[in-house]
Amino acid sequence: MKALISNRNIITRVLNLSLGKSLGQGVELKDVAVPTILDDEILVKVLAVALNPTDFKHIDFISPPHSIIGCDYVGEVAKVGRNAAKAWNIGDRVAGAVHGGIYSDRGAFAEYLKIDSDLAWKVPPGVSDAEATTYGISAISAMLALNVHLGIPWADEPRKAQHRGAVTHPSVFIYAGSTCAGLFCIQLAKAAGYTVVTTASPRSFDLVKRYGADRVFDYRSPNATDEITKEFPNITSAVDCFSEGSSTEFCATVLKKNGGKVVTLLDQGTSKIKGVEYEMIMAYTLFGRAFSLLPPIGPKFEAKPLDRNALARFYASLPQVAKDVKPPPISIVDGGFDGILLGLNQLRRGEVSGSKLVVNL
Ligand SMILES: NC(=O)c1ccc[n+]([C@@H]2O[C@H](COP(=O)([O-])OP(=O)(O)OC[C@H]3O[C@@H](n4cnc5c(N)ncnc54)[C@H](OP(=O)(O)O)[C@@H]3O)[C@@H](O)[C@H]2O)c1
Repeated sequence: MKALISNRNIITRVLNLSLGKSLGQGVELKDVAVPTILDDEILVKVLAVALNPTDFKHIDFISPPHSIIGCDYVGEVAKVGRNAAKAWNIGDRVAGAVHGGIYSDRGAFAEYLKIDSDLAWKVPPGVSDAEATTYGISAISAMLALNVHLGIPWADEPRKAQHRGAVTHPSVFIYAGSTCAGLFCIQLAKAAGYTVVTTASPRSFDLVKRYGADRVFDYRSPNATDEITKEFPNITSAVDCFSEGSSTEFCATVLKKNGGKVVTLLDQGTSKIKGVEYEMIMAYTLFGRAFSLLPPIGPKFEAKPLDRNALARFYASLPQVAKDVKPPPISIVDGGFDGILLGLNQLRRGEVSGSKLVVNL
């Protein structure tokens, strides 16, 4: 099968990481073996993929050579492992995310991929292929942040009376609500009955409101944190969907009065504000396997069975939940595998705002 395979050695990757550059192509379209599946796995013929910043970060500095790049996919079941036969049939439409970029036989930017049979969702009629492929890394990161790390009720849980009625709505702060991760955070928090306070550029104010944000502030305004704390003095939970520069400090300032937790998507160190803690998440822990990034020098992550259970629950509920939790706006990039590289360059240059790039293969 054809697949986009990483080819950078450790020296170029470390150089890219330290210079913040992308020297050379770092990836090539190659013919590789179709993955073989275990009894608990399914083989998927990939129909479309969605792009994430993590894909170009893997190409630039994380992926060891010979890894298949890419995480988000939609496709058709092509082969079913013996233990998966009750749940899946050949030809079913299936979508989800895989831990792309570190394995030589597991990644989405390929004609076929393999996945644990309970870590994918059956795409219902009425959800298009392009829409289905957007419920990958961005959506599962939002779920991990809100439902697992902040203890916000799940979208498929019956809501408590006080959340349903107009009496009290707990509030959550989502920094960078117009990122794809942010749009899913807003919706999952709304589904749990929360009041959602967010930040975005003015060009994205309408977008975040359409996805359910109750109040939006411009993160570039020098008075933003004062305005937020004045209007919402009791927030104790935040997700920083940007996690660069001073964004996490911004979140901590919003939580300063009562203390609380800021979940970050990138490493932001520790909080300087007493009573406010930072907790970084990594969507890959949801796949239930131990892994290392940039081995042998980078950090190691243990297998987290509870995170794996959370992903299985999320994808099992998604055929129902997707009626209320919409995909982000979609921009189709033409060109198949070449289109993936073009789209990743757009993401690298920070040119994508408020939409998910999707490529049909
Ligand atoms: N740890 C994990 O597991 C994990 C999972 C998912 C994502 N991530 C990381 O989280 C980040 C967001 O990912 P994504 O896919 O959601 O991103 P995305 O959709 O590509 O984000 C684009 C958005 O970023 C916003 N933005 C750009 N510069 C900003 C700034 N200086 N301050 C605040 N917002 C800014 C823009 O919003 P406006 O147009 O409103 O300015 C734009 O809409 C990436 O770094 C990604 O690698 C990590």
